[in-house]
Amino acid sequence: MSSSLGFHSLDEERAMSLAVTGSVPGWLTGSLVRNGPGRFDLPDGGSVDHWFDGLAMCYRFTFDPGNGGDGPVEGTGDTDAVHYRNRFLETDAYEQAEAGEFDGGFATGETTLRDRLAGLFTDPYDNTNIVVERVGGQYLALTESPRAVVVNPNTLAVEGHSQYDGPAPDGQLACAHLKRDPATGTLFNVETAFGRTSNYHVHALTGAGERRHIGSVETDAPAYMHSFALTQRYVVLTEFPLRVNPLSFIKPGRQGPFIERFEWQPDRGTRVIVVERATGDIVADPVTDAVFGFHHVNAFERDGGTEVVFDLETIPDATAITELSLDSLRNGEIDAISGRLERFTVDLGSPTEPSRYGTDSASVSREMLYDDGTSLPTVSPARWCEEHRYVYAMSMDQPATGWATGVMKYDTERDEVAEFETGGEYFGEPIFVPGPADAADAGVVLTVALDTTAGHSRLIMLDGEQFEERARVELPHAVPFDFHGRYFPELRARQAG
Ligand SMILES: [Fe+2]
Repeated sequence: MSSSLGFHSLDEERAMSLAVTGSVPGWLTGSLVRNGPGRFDLPDGGSVDHWFDGLAMCYRFTFDPGNGGDGPVEGTGDTDAVHYRNRFLETDAYEQAEAGEFDGGFATGETTLRDRLAGLFTDPYDNTNIVVERVGGQYLALTESPRAVVVNPNTLAVEGHSQYDGPAPDGQLACAHLKRDPATGTLFNVETAFGRTSNYHVHALTGAGERRHIGSVETDAPAYMHSFALTQRYVVLTEFPLRVNPLSFIKPGRQGPFIERFEWQPDRGTRVIVVERATGDIVADPVTDAVFGFHHVNAFERDGGTEVVFDLETIPDATAITELSLDSLRNGEIDAISGRLERFTVDLGSPTEPSRYGTDSASVSREMLYDDGTSLPTVSPARWCEEHRYVYAMSMDQPATGWATGVMKYDTERDEVAEFETGGEYFGEPIFVPGPADAADAGVVLTVALDTTAGHSRLIMLDGEQFEERARVELPHAVPFDFHGRYFPELRARQAG
């Protein structure tokens, strides 16, 4: 079994109702919207250099059982269908690629540093293949640039761009992942601004293109920062020692893709910065040993707010980034440490007297929860900013020698793992959708699996408690391995445009 099919270019765009095998719970209405690289090959016969640089394609899976929607699925008489649609995001990057001019992604392109910096300021790239988030009333496709793409959630057509243009400080790079506090509905983002003094700017998003500046954190060398953590009171930045020298951007002559601007500088350690949401004050700024990670899983407060706890998927260093080059992946040459679930606990000292905090009084401790191989970990959206019990993730070998052949559910209370594997499929990020029952794991887990023997993908629905399959939907094609999905209960209409 080879996973190379997961890195093929999918040229087909479809919109159709698909029959369900098994049973979809009646309470499940809404849509899973996923995003990822859909095309790697370029018209000139070449290809992008890195998995992260494939051209954005969105996928929508809509559940509206019993509604009838657009009628029985042809040939089945079954109205318990899932409506499926996939579409390339017709971004500027997509059009440039079509015209043979794609340049300047994450790890593709030979733009000079000077051009690259100019591009960051004037024309941020928009190959927004990482995730789709609802911001205000809009659905935005995101990447690590402050320029988001507005997507029609029904047709998946691009309706324009969204980039902040107002008095709050902004940056040239953005964390790809926003964090939402479900208690208030507020979304947060972090942008990196390069300058004589560089800053991470933390904002609350009040709507698409509207924001309230929370606070800023100075840094002498910005880190590559894909995500951050959020609790009910704090925003937590993890500044890994994968750092850029801001001056290197303006030195002429050096060439190379974006990520090669960053250097692994382990002597710096990993800085953990806790910013109070209400005031923007930095209430803790401790440093721990060097580590790297892309995804903060969830975060919460403990002991009356004197401790901030966050789970982070870590790897020992940043070398895994190059392991994700397209050549390596297509040739099945993965050889890297898989993700590990690690818990960080920041002791704030006394949270009532902010002036006493800082690098002297705060400390951070670390506990390895699970080190047997994870990728793209998630928790129930009902637990965001609160203590969670279960973490879901792709189940990897440790070290990784290939793609995920299963998904897993890790119980942080009992230190137990349930795995779902079929022996014949490669899996993507699992998304938990909470159901109406009280149990923390009552609901379903949705994941897209690629069957390389059958030559196509399927959506697999697991029962959240049993962690066993309860339904599947065969897709009309093989979906390239993608990044992230969000479940939007409000996107119900089966006839998706
Ligand atoms: Fe991500």
